[in-house]
Amino acid sequence: MDTHSVIDVFTPAKPARISFVEREAINTKLVNALQTPGKQMVIYGHSGSGKTTLLENKLCQLYENHLTTRCMSGMTFEQILRDAFDQLGQYYDATVKTKDSYSISGEIAGDYFGIRAKLGAASDVTSMVEKRPVLPPELTPQRLGRYIGAAKCCWVLEDFHKVSQDHGKKLSQIMKVFMDLANEWPTLKVVAIGAVDTARLVVQYDAEMSNRISEIEVPLMSSFEIREILAKSEDLLNISIDSVVKREITLLSNGLASVCHSLGLGLCRAKGVLETANNKVGIGEEELQKAIRDYIEDSSDSLKGVLDKALYRKRHGQFDNFRIVIEGLAKLPQEGGTKGDIYDAIRSYHHKYPQSNLVHCLKELQSEDRGEFVRYDQNSGRYSFSNPFYRAYALAYLNKDRTSTKKLIKTDTSYNITLKAENIAKIIDAMLSVQNRREEDAN
Ligand SMILES: Nc1ncnc2c1ncn2[C@@H]1O[C@H](COP(=O)(O)OP(=O)(O)OP(=O)(O)O)[C@@H](O)[C@H]1O
Ligand SMILES: [Mg+2]
Repeated sequence: MDTHSVIDVFTPAKPARISFVEREAINTKLVNALQTPGKQMVIYGHSGSGKTTLLENKLCQLYENHLTTRCMSGMTFEQILRDAFDQLGQYYDATVKTKDSYSISGEIAGDYFGIRAKLGAASDVTSMVEKRPVLPPELTPQRLGRYIGAAKCCWVLEDFHKVSQDHGKKLSQIMKVFMDLANEWPTLKVVAIGAVDTARLVVQYDAEMSNRISEIEVPLMSSFEIREILAKSEDLLNISIDSVVKREITLLSNGLASVCHSLGLGLCRAKGVLETANNKVGIGEEELQKAIRDYIEDSSDSLKGVLDKALYRKRHGQFDNFRIVIEGLAKLPQEGGTKGDIYDAIRSYHHKYPQSNLVHCLKELQSEDRGEFVRYDQNSGRYSFSNPFYRAYALAYLNKDRTSTKKLIKTDTSYNITLKAENIAKIIDAMLSVQNRREEDAN
């Protein structure tokens, strides 16, 4: 049996490799698009749904090389082009060094180095005057396409939705240029990864793109896929996780593989498993409780950050809308409820609350600006907290009487079919104790 380190198996903060689970539902569409010359792609979905991991793994299986540019808000089209151009250096320099495996033609390589020399000279001047790269006019999208194609690469643009409208428009136009170059360079394509609305953005920037790109939605993971991650990890580390614990982790993850990886890592650390065990190690409820506690300790700052974002009050009108809606939703069980259920919960303590405010808030709470705090499930028509820890945290945070965990979960009659009530109680207790300790430390 191969030995693996636990941090390579449970990877809460980087793309999974050895514990990567195939996503059957979208695999064929993704592979077909990647293998169709000229097909430009937009991959979108909620944060944490597994876009980057899926693409990285598929590119490793199907492509020789790829470039990744991480877009940031405020980044210009020129900076994005320049980033790709600079990254290409690794392939062109290697071509020069290993003359035997000369893969890029001398003419294209010469052209590339010519522009690089000009860029070097330009950036010496510009960095002193203004810290913005000026691209030589020769570095056109066509040329960049040739350089990327000759290096047998495709170009991944992470966080495409962060680029402003003007620059995003130009990037959409690059997709058209790359399409035309596909006969000569079959691997050449842009793969734009982004938030839920990214596909709409690309088409909005350039209407002609509407039937030329492949739009691929990466949904949150199914319970089956989350269980697969756990099963794979058990094999890789030679551990056996109690079946009730696996079920709890699946429920706590609520479709987010990063939560599953965090808790898995916590389980192993609690048990002292740091790499593949020689003899099978059993892991149970005790380790889960410790893993939950560690997860909360670790993430309480970011949980608070997300909640602050969700609660942020732009205007001081009659109602503190987001607080009211989050409180109402928190009163429902973990699986959430319909608009009507939430409205009833709110009206029990805010008799005059207008339904139109609720509609508006629910929509906004699903946006990235509000940390995608709330999720809407089209099939069931229910709204819920996108991560069960958000709900537990909201309950802990919004509750003024910090001792009555039992009272908080009194309404959760359906936990026997979802998350065990005592586990939610423990989560809330752990959150309260972290908060209290911090407050004591601060005083
Ligand atoms: N198919 C998979 N198999 C195993 N683990 C996965 C899989 N997909 C994602 N993960 C894990 O889930 C977490 C989140 O995945 P990833 O970063 O790919 O999501 P994302 O959609 O790109 O998120 P963001 O929009 O925030 O960039 C990571 O910890 C990753 O290891
Ligand atoms: Mg990502």
